[in-house]
Amino acid sequence: METTAAILQRRSIRKFQNTFIPRKMIEEIIDLATKAPSGKNRQPWRFVVLQEQSKDTLAGIMSGVVALRKQQSLDTGSCELSIQAIKQASAVILVYNPFSHVETDYNHYRLLTDTQSIGAAIQTMLLAAQNAGLGTLWICDIFYAEPEICAWLDRHDELVAAVAIGFADQEPYPRPRKGWEAVTEWL
Ligand SMILES: Cc1cc2nc3c(=O)[nH]c(=O)nc-3n(C[C@H](O)[C@H](O)[C@H](O)COP(=O)(O)O)c2cc1C
Repeated sequence: METTAAILQRRSIRKFQNTFIPRKMIEEIIDLATKAPSGKNRQPWRFVVLQEQSKDTLAGIMSGVVALRKQQSLDTGSCELSIQAIKQASAVILVYNPFSHVETDYNHYRLLTDTQSIGAAIQTMLLAAQNAGLGTLWICDIFYAEPEICAWLDRHDELVAAVAIGFADQEPYPRPRKGWEAVTEWL
């Protein structure tokens, strides 16, 4: 698939077919994600792949947090939609920053740089999946359950995002975008 076609055809997918993706396919997609550029080539990304039981545990943890927050009349964002996508997806890839909680001289600019690098890796992952005929959902609703997820996995690095991945079971219309003219200044 041509790069432009992959960029144009990618959508956030929230309904997936009940079809398992072989480990090899996910490994190839993560391998391509690691080709993304990163500030000082720090490659500030680590990936944890959840499938089947571990993926169900993630959905269960998030559902528990949503139930609790609802009881307390707290906001739950688009968590319920994200949990449905997690349940249906073949895999969920958690993305961590291994440095931000560890480096003693970590600062705001390093966080900005590493987060941009991680975003580049995630977008590369999304386009690689698109190229392989798979759908994806970039998920930050995991932040609602961040302490619970990190405690479950006993991880002390920083959870940055999750990506649900599987064969799409929907063809969403393109979501609207501001035209480039509206977001660009020429000086
Ligand atoms: C950083 C980031 C976080 C996102 N988090 C969520 C999420 O938690 N749940 C969700 O359903 N969609 C999430 N999305 C998907 C956006 O809602 C989606 O990209 C946007 O509406 C545009 O639609 P499109 O991706 O189909 O073009 C996220 C996207 C990004 C880039």
